[in-house]
Amino acid sequence: MNSPQPSIATRLTRLLGIEHPIVLPGMTYVAVPRLVGAVSRAGGLGILASGGLSTQECAQAIADIRAITDKPFAVGCSLALPGARECVSVALDAQVPVLNISMGKGDWVIERAHAYGGKVIATVSNEKHARAAIDSGVDGLIVTGHEAAAHGGKVTSMVLLPAVRDLCDLPIIAAGGVADGRGLVAALALGADAVAMGTRFATSLESPLHADTKQLVVSKAAEATIYSKNFDTYPCRVMDTAGGRKYTARPLSPPVALTRSVQAALEIDRPLMDLARDAMAQGPAQAVRTAYFGAATLAMRKAMYEANHDEGVQLIGQSQGLVHDVVSVDEIMARTVAQAREALAQLQRGFV
Ligand SMILES: Cc1cc2nc3c(=O)[nH]c(=O)nc-3n(C[C@H](O)[C@H](O)[C@H](O)COP(=O)(O)O)c2cc1C
Repeated sequence: MNSPQPSIATRLTRLLGIEHPIVLPGMTYVAVPRLVGAVSRAGGLGILASGGLSTQECAQAIADIRAITDKPFAVGCSLALPGARECVSVALDAQVPVLNISMGKGDWVIERAHAYGGKVIATVSNEKHARAAIDSGVDGLIVTGHEAAAHGGKVTSMVLLPAVRDLCDLPIIAAGGVADGRGLVAALALGADAVAMGTRFATSLESPLHADTKQLVVSKAAEATIYSKNFDTYPCRVMDTAGGRKYTARPLSPPVALTRSVQAALEIDRPLMDLARDAMAQGPAQAVRTAYFGAATLAMRKAMYEANHDEGVQLIGQSQGLVHDVVSVDEIMARTVAQAREALAQLQRGFV
């Protein structure tokens, strides 16, 4: 099923000039240039995860995506993380078509992006944060429901999407629980203009996940996830594995979190003093959170890259229960659009 599909046009496809209302969300260590470029080249919107990248690496990643495709793509930044602001600046200097921001006020990003015609999309997981983002003047929202991998909200997409739709007329990208064309049509019916599929694209051929980890995703049922604050202090959904259970059984003590975050910084070759200065600049509470995030990256890398699921922790969504094979981005895109068109046609035919 690899033939080009006629597009499904929405407010989001028109706003960004993309063909399909399908997005690769920012996923640290997963949404790398090869995967981002593949999704954008196939007519969706790939979002580069800039977390963990130095400014030089961020600039190189943007160049790498542009070498793959001249179609629109985005750079994603969690503004509260060390180095994020510098990466956003690199992206703005490079005039990337779309910025995706989360965890912080982004007025300055909006101002600079709009000056060259760029668009800014904020990721939110509850109504309060959606209101703040709308008031700040963003061009669109990613609304992340409870089903999602990582930091989905308390409320499921089924309720959160129409609730946020009632707040604004902005294009909405639904994230959490969507892995195929049926989910796309359901999200459109709930008021979204596109879907972001993290778990599905993380299991594509172009994803950097270890082949055994991809097969593990395929083998897991929808309910085999854990939603816990003990991973990185924010409620976070991870795969139910030995490593996932061990890590989320109780909160890490601050000294262990600090030791592991230092270890993580050394592993990814980041200057410790720079990280510490950036973290402290956000205040003591955020500095502690940063240590927990740093500790979590060690566990994430073990699961993702080494398929070590006894010590590692794999971020994954409930939609893993809908992933039955490892195929290319082009194939996922073609299947999703074809299935969505079929579901729309079925709705129009009615049910007897
Ligand atoms: C392997 C993987 C890694 C992820 N990493 C991050 C991350 O670093 N930061 C983040 O905010 N969200 C992360 N996410 C969540 C996605 O951005 C997105 O919200 C989510 O995947 C949507 O739900 P779905 O998995 O049901 O498609 C990750 C998701 C996956 C599957």
